[in-house]
Amino acid sequence: MGIRKIREEGDPILTKKCRPVEKMNLRTKVLIQDMFETMYHAYGVGLAGPQVGVLRRLCVIDVDGEHPYVFINPEIIEQSGEQTGEEGCLSIPGMCALVTRPEHVKVRALDINMEPFELEADGLLARACCHEFDHLDGIMYPSRALEPIHPVDQGEDEEEDEAPEDEL
Ligand code: NI
Repeated sequence: MGIRKIREEGDPILTKKCRPVEKMNLRTKVLIQDMFETMYHAYGVGLAGPQVGVLRRLCVIDVDGEHPYVFINPEIIEQSGEQTGEEGCLSIPGMCALVTRPEHVKVRALDINMEPFELEADGLLARACCHEFDHLDGIMYPSRALEPIHPVDQGEDEEEDEAPEDEL
């Protein structure tokens, strides 16, 4: 177990499409534990396989530090509404940009025991699902952003003094 190196933008692995996870084994369980460790260590709220160099369809998400989710072979089966907010990514550290995502998604995936489950998510959790699942298709958020990516601290509205957005 341990913290893995997070691949950064420019690494070709981040733009490749991942293959499904076919079965659970010890190697994959260790990978998932390492992904949680790596994500928490980097103060992120989500991390996908390719970000640690593994081209498999799996990701981990924990948007509040209390609800860790593992998604294996996930798909969004319903979506509705819209939210526009700043998004960041552990693979593009220190940067962010406005991205519009659905406000609500319904996800179908397998859990760590390869058991199917469904999850309804709103707000940041819905955004995190969209962002992480995009990684599994080699899609990085700048290609969906409404503006060029820019440093997190360079807010246009200084008075609001917003906290930096969570990195996904
Ligand atoms: Ni990301």
